[in-house]
Formats: sequence, C-alpha cells, structure tokens
Amino acid sequence: MELIVAGGRRLVGSVPASGSKNAALAIMAGSMLVEGDTIIENMPGIRDVSVMSSILQEMGVSIRPVGPQAMRIRTHRFIHHEAPYELSKKLRASSLLLGPLLARKGRASIPLPGGDNIGSRPMDLHVKGLRALGADVQVEHGYIVARAPRLEGARIYLDFPSVGATENIMMAACLADGTSIIENVAKEPEVVDLANFLTLMGANIRGAGTDVIRVDGVDSLTATAYSLIPDRIEAATLLAAGIITHGRVRVTNVIPTHLESVLSKFSEMGASITVGDDYVEATMDRPIQPCDTKTLPYPGFPTDMQPQLSAVLSIAAGVSVITESVFENRFLHVDELKRMGANIRLEGRSIIVEGVPGLTSTRVQANDLRTGAALILAGLVAEGETVISGVEHIDRGYDDICSKLNSIEASIKRRDSTKCAAAGEENGTWVN
Ligand code: UD1
Repeated sequence: MELIVAGGRRLVGSVPASGSKNAALAIMAGSMLVEGDTIIENMPGIRDVSVMSSILQEMGVSIRPVGPQAMRIRTHRFIHHEAPYELSKKLRASSLLLGPLLARKGRASIPLPGGDNIGSRPMDLHVKGLRALGADVQVEHGYIVARAPRLEGARIYLDFPSVGATENIMMAACLADGTSIIENVAKEPEVVDLANFLTLMGANIRGAGTDVIRVDGVDSLTATAYSLIPDRIEAATLLAAGIITHGRVRVTNVIPTHLESVLSKFSEMGASITVGDDYVEATMDRPIQPCDTKTLPYPGFPTDMQPQLSAVLSIAAGVSVITESVFENRFLHVDELKRMGANIRLEGRSIIVEGVPGLTSTRVQANDLRTGAALILAGLVAEGETVISGVEHIDRGYDDICSKLNSIEASIKRRDSTKCAAAGEENGTWVN
C-alpha cells in the first residue's frame, strides 16, 4: 500500500481527533485485571488496536465492537498467561500485559517486545518494579517470564519516568497486598487516563499526573465502562498540517491542556493559536519561524511529535536545532526528508535543520509511525506528488488519516501497490 500526496494545497477546515492510541493500548491491557465485560468508548480505528485485540483473543478473551467507536472486552476466569509470539513482537505495548497478568494470574510470559525501531527500548525499569513487588522475573528463551503467587506493596524509584514502566507497575500494584509508592513516574495524560480507568474499577490510586503515585492494593476489581481521552499526538499532527501549508485548521474533540508544550512551540514558530473548551485552531499566515526544541517527558515537548516538527521546520526561514532526549535513535525521518530536499544535519542526539524555500516530491519510505506522519506533512507542501510506502506503519497509529486530511482540503490517495504490480498497471489501483 502506498499514499500519494499532492503537494501545494492550503489546508483549511475543522476535523475531529480520535481517541488516544496510547491510552487505548494501556487500558486494553488493564482490562486483563478483571473478569467480566469492559466497555471502552472513543476507540480509535487503528492497526495497533487491532493487533492488541488479536493478542487478547489468542489468550482466550472475547472482543467485539458495540458501536462505531466502542469495544467490549469480555475476560473469562481462565485466560492464558502467555502472550502469542508472532503478534506480540509487532507491538511493544504488548509488554503492558506483564503487570496485569502477573497480578491476576500469578504468572505472565511476554515475548521481548517489538514496535517502532527507535532505539534499544529496554525493559529494565518494568522488571525492576515488578521484582520490587516480589515477583521473580527472568528472561527465558526470548520471553520475559514473571512469577509471583502474591505481590507485596513496595517503594519503587524509576531512574527515568518511563510511560510503560509506570503503567505496568501501577497495574500490578492495584492487586498487591499493602501500599506501593512509585517515585519519578511518568506524568503523561495517558498514564492519568489509565489511573482513572483503574480507579473506576475499584483501584485505590492517588497522585497520577504528579511525580509520585501511591497505590493501596485491593483484593479484586470490577469491570467497568470507560471513554478514552483524545489523541493529543494525532491532534498536534493535524494542526501541524495546517501550519506547514500556511492554512487554518481547527481540531475538535481535544483536551487543549494536553497540547500546551506543542501549542507554545507552534506560537513561537509564528502560528496564531485559538483555544476553546474542546478545540484548538492554528492559523499560519506568515513565514514559519525557526526555533530550537528539546523533547522531554510530559509536560515537555513530546518525542512523538519530533519527526513532524522536523518536517515543518525544514521549510522555516532560518536554522533550528532539535534535540531528542527521550529515545536514542529517533531520526529515521531525516534521510527521507533530505531526499525531498530538506537540509538537515545529524549531530549526536540533535539535528540541525536549515530551512529551505521548498521541498520536492519523490518516493519515500515510512520506516515507523511518526516518520510516516512527517513524510505526509512534507508531501503536503512538496512540489508535485509524493509517493509514501510503508503505509502500514502510519495505519498503526492514525485513524483514517487520508479521509481526515482530505476533509480539510488535502488531496491524498491510497494505492494498492501489490495489485498494481500484479496487473502491470502503471497508475495502480486506487482503493480510497
Ligand atoms: C510510550 C508511548 C510512545 C512514546 C513513549 C515516550 C505507548 C504505547 N507508547 O512508549 O508512543 O514515544 O512512551 O513518551 O504508550 N526505558 C528504559 N528502560 C525501561 C523502559 C524505558 O531505559 O524499562 C527508556 C526507553 O528506552 C526510552 C525511554 O525510557 O529511551 C522512554 O521510554 P518509555 O517512556 O518507556 O516509552 P514506552 O512506554 O515504550
């Protein structure tokens, strides 16, 4: 599958954000803590959610849609403690099953995770936390295997505020005996959303959204219904599409406070920002100003927006420096943007982006989810038609991205490149 992006159109209009990918994955994992029916609303239609659903189904869970954006997860008394290898290696978030399965079944076995190719992404903090709760955790034949007949509350300090480690440890601590104090935790809105979901199920959690989370263990939880927060990264990407095309884009169904660091960066770049109760609008009617940025854990500038920011700054009127401090190797987009005429130099954990007057279209490859988003943004302003392959990476985390962008005046099509090659057609088969 390929995307064909026609460059040169100014994006104007209003478009809703979908539910948060990262909240969806964590809360699907959290539903393993209970027996019964969990209903999740505002579910995004993305491939990562489909993969997580398939993983849970292989473990004996029934899943079915109960509305256009709602899913019912029915967990039975008996579920497998081992996540299936083939599917789990495609999705790093499958590692979030470790804590809930361990807490509920006393045993969990998860293939060492895959996901985006952005650095080594170790699991040491997850393991350290679960060991502190009394689990025996070993790596056996490519699986992380955790065992504990009963977990005990503990005091745990995370050396880095890892989102996944915070979520895994918090979920496990919900069913532990006694109190857990987890320090230097991640403060991302998705962590808070998971904590709110767990609290609705009867967990006793305080401090989510601050540096310290306290969990008083309870004996059992009860299944519940929950509506996910909007996806702040999708929202920010749509706003960036307005900015890079010198347009005016309003994104609705957002929680504006979740976007603060991104919005202040967009203002610095010269965009006019209007914030409503549940929408944000960005208008760009002057040259994009260069600016320096460092990615940081929330509430800092999100690493998940760094490739898209690089794309926008590649046509800024001057030189910007972007430093990646969360992941060690998150510059897969740089070579592809350079192929489109961007002038970017890599220096250690930073890139120096020298703005150019314009980009040119070519064939490019989305090697990961956010590289794909950056290439779409670049394609929107490049002269001619940009052909992006590796669309399956984009579909992992963007709900119907072509229709959303086309609804605000973009012109993007999907083309099935395999069908095209089989039929010997030069222009391919349009499927969207
Ligand atoms: C989550 C998000 C991802 C986002 C990232 C950072 C999900 C499903 N994914 O990923 O979109 O980019 O947060 O905001 O929610 N680390 C360790 N040891 C560990 C765990 C992490 O050293 O045990 C390091 C990682 O290598 C990385 C940094 O900590 O350098 C941040 O990773 P983490 O916050 O754990 O990211 P994820 O939870 O994998």
